[in-house]
Amino acid sequence: MLREEDEKIWKIARPHLDVRNNDEHTVVSYHLAKNLLEKYPEANPDVVLTAILLHDTGWKSVPQDKLMESFGYKKKYPELLIQHEKEGAKLAQRELAKLGYDQAVIDQIADIIDGHDSTLEAKNINDAIVKDADKLWRFTPHANKIVCKWYDVEPMKVIDIIMGNSIMHLLLPESKVMAHGFMDFIRAHEALPKYINYETNTIE
Ligand SMILES: [Fe+2]
Ligand SMILES: [Fe+2]
Repeated sequence: MLREEDEKIWKIARPHLDVRNNDEHTVVSYHLAKNLLEKYPEANPDVVLTAILLHDTGWKSVPQDKLMESFGYKKKYPELLIQHEKEGAKLAQRELAKLGYDQAVIDQIADIIDGHDSTLEAKNINDAIVKDADKLWRFTPHANKIVCKWYDVEPMKVIDIIMGNSIMHLLLPESKVMAHGFMDFIRAHEALPKYINYETNTIE
């Protein structure tokens, strides 16, 4: 569930998230960020959760015929990956100012959005939680299904891809534990037909 105070941010973000499954990705990453926030009381939920809701709003400004080749393991247009970060940061500046947010808080949020994917080192704990919550989505069963469709590959191939390009960039130990848990679930799910005969198994 979104915090009540985040509903207004979601309303602003949502019209910008209807490309590349960004709406679902954002809601899942928001919940992963909330989980990480429980472990880091020194982090600021108002900065982290606002940043995660707005972090991918910039994808809508990218030429849609090039969008699917602007990220991931088939990336051809790295400049568009940067563009989505810059446009998202601009949108955060503009919209949060309209809501009357303190400029110092707006700057922290925009600073996290700008570089959330293209930079790998975190500037502070708020930044680390947003970066990890964003990447952690890739390990979830939810993302696995979506990425299989994007690249026309099998679930285990998605695990190979993220083990090759994402696991080493998770910053917090709790994120690594979660990532491995998600991947083990997918491995187990893929292994089920090997051990269970679904044609004769009548247990619901
Ligand atoms: Fe992004
Ligand atoms: Fe993202």
